[in-house]
Amino acid sequence: MAKIEIFGKCTAMVYLCKTLKGATIMIKVLFVCLGNICRSPLAQGIFEHLTQHETDRFLADSAGTSTYHIGELPDDRAIAIAQMNHIVLGHRARQIQKEDFEKFDYIIAMDKTNYQNILTLKSRVSNASEPKIMLMRSFDSVKEQLEVPDPYYGSQQDFERVYDILYRTTENFVQFLREEHA
Ligand code: 4NP
Repeated sequence: MAKIEIFGKCTAMVYLCKTLKGATIMIKVLFVCLGNICRSPLAQGIFEHLTQHETDRFLADSAGTSTYHIGELPDDRAIAIAQMNHIVLGHRARQIQKEDFEKFDYIIAMDKTNYQNILTLKSRVSNASEPKIMLMRSFDSVKEQLEVPDPYYGSQQDFERVYDILYRTTENFVQFLREEHA
């Protein structure tokens, strides 16, 4: 009888621990580029698509370092390539802000300039927690360069190339997160 009670308590403890762990394990990711209308909303859309069955575990958002396009929908060419791949982009552009360093666990920069600008902003946030700030293409299996090229002044083909880069890097990033937070 006593054994059964202890077993029951242990089971309850394990359940409680899992529940508590489950409650705290939401992983929050912010993708950042310059305008927040091409690369980072595409990355956000791909990330949400790949984690669509784990919405209790992963949360994604995106932002730009600039103010250029605040409030705008993504560029038509980004919307088009996403739609061709059954991804709907509904994000409205916003600028990264100090609170983002509190909220997010990972801040993922599309290029080295974004990365430096994020670090500069973070240095001005006195109580910033420690999100991991990383370059998107550090997750790329194709080791050609570390930046996601800016397609804004390019063609639809440039957006298609960016989509391919973002898809494979986001797949690897999601895999990394699953292993890191198993
Ligand atoms: P994104 O692309 O940083 O990938 O959103 C750009 C969008 C707009 C501009 C530059 C890059 N712009 O100069 O307006």
